[in-house]
Amino acid sequence: MTTHKIALLAGDGIGPEIMTQAEKLLAAVESRGKVKFELMPALFGASAWFEVGHSLPQETLDICDSADAILKGTIGLNHEDTEKIPVEERPERAGLLPLRKHLDTYANFRPVYLPAGLKHFSPLKPEIIGDGIDIMIIRELVGGLYFGDKQLGTDETGQRYAIETLEYTEFQIERILRVAFETAQKRKGVLHNIHKSNVLKSSVLWNEILNDIKDEYSNVKVEHMLVDAAATYLCLNPGQFDVMVMENMMGDILSDQGGGILGSLGLMPSACIGPNKAYYEPSHGSAPDIAGQNVANPYSMLGSVAMMLEYSFGMKTESQEIFDAMEALFVEGVTTPDLKQPGVDNKMISTDEFGDRVAAALS
Ligand code: NAD
Ligand code: IPM
Ligand code: MN
Repeated sequence: MTTHKIALLAGDGIGPEIMTQAEKLLAAVESRGKVKFELMPALFGASAWFEVGHSLPQETLDICDSADAILKGTIGLNHEDTEKIPVEERPERAGLLPLRKHLDTYANFRPVYLPAGLKHFSPLKPEIIGDGIDIMIIRELVGGLYFGDKQLGTDETGQRYAIETLEYTEFQIERILRVAFETAQKRKGVLHNIHKSNVLKSSVLWNEILNDIKDEYSNVKVEHMLVDAAATYLCLNPGQFDVMVMENMMGDILSDQGGGILGSLGLMPSACIGPNKAYYEPSHGSAPDIAGQNVANPYSMLGSVAMMLEYSFGMKTESQEIFDAMEALFVEGVTTPDLKQPGVDNKMISTDEFGDRVAAALS
């Protein structure tokens, strides 16, 4: 029987409670006797910093390197607690970004998905949603504004200044665009290229490279859209989008807006894919405001497990079954509090109960 080794980086805030649900789900899938999972928990995030002085300890990197796939919870603290950690050692800057760079997980798939039967969760009017929302945001994850040269200084007049540079090489742009074209070919053949070429040189280069390669994908129709307009159209007409591709920071912002049009960040799983390794994480943060209360929505985490089963282990059937089980729960009228509809008598369910029910469906 095949054994898949999975590094588990539970992290901070709601990370450990939603990771517990992921472990129950993996145990349920394992109980079917088709595959075995070897789970390798590792310290990561602010909790690692407080425990061993590093947000991404070397031992954790070694565990990730030896794993077949990596499942990550969430990292980060609230504003006040974040300030207790030196800027350069904080978990986002010293943990998550170096992990992404180390694994070279340049292609971040963030599905924004809401079937028609769940459109009541969305703050958008039902007639705007139509048959549901089904968008794949593809975010470049290891370049752009996040990874360019950064400086803080004071000029000759005593003014403090900051410089951040948005850097991309041709290689980096071409590989993410190829992923986007290939994804569009497998879906509806429409690719929205999101950019800011009216201001940014990096977008001019991005679009030039897209032009250079687009004829290789003649069955894909490319639509160009400026990022600010895209933010509006995500609210006004999400149905026009199928696959969207964009720079790192643009993807950070628009994917959270994706959670907004679904009704909760709790509905946002993701896959971060590199040439040799992939890791899977909810798109949302550590939700310090609700951590430890057993109320977090584990859908994003369990959906990330589903994406791992499909993308890393080729278990497409089980992956679909997980999404179906979660949808069935919602259709029954069961929700975690983030999705409670005002004035509707939803049956509230805890993080643990949600995890138990999805695991039971997969047993
Ligand atoms: P957040 O995503 O943690 O929370 C924003 C809002 O969404 C909060 O009200 C939160 O309660 C809610 N929310 C998020 N996930 C939820 C879930 N699964 N169920 C129910 N409600 C949920 O964003 P934030 O508050 O801006 O950031 C908190 C911390 O998380 C920061 O330290 C930030 O740097 C970090 N962060 C980490 C990641 C990551 O690990 N990949 C991603 C984003 C933010
Ligand atoms: C995300 C997060 C991260 C990002 C932070 C925590 C560094 O917001 O995964 O979307 O900005 O990429
Ligand atoms: Mn984000």
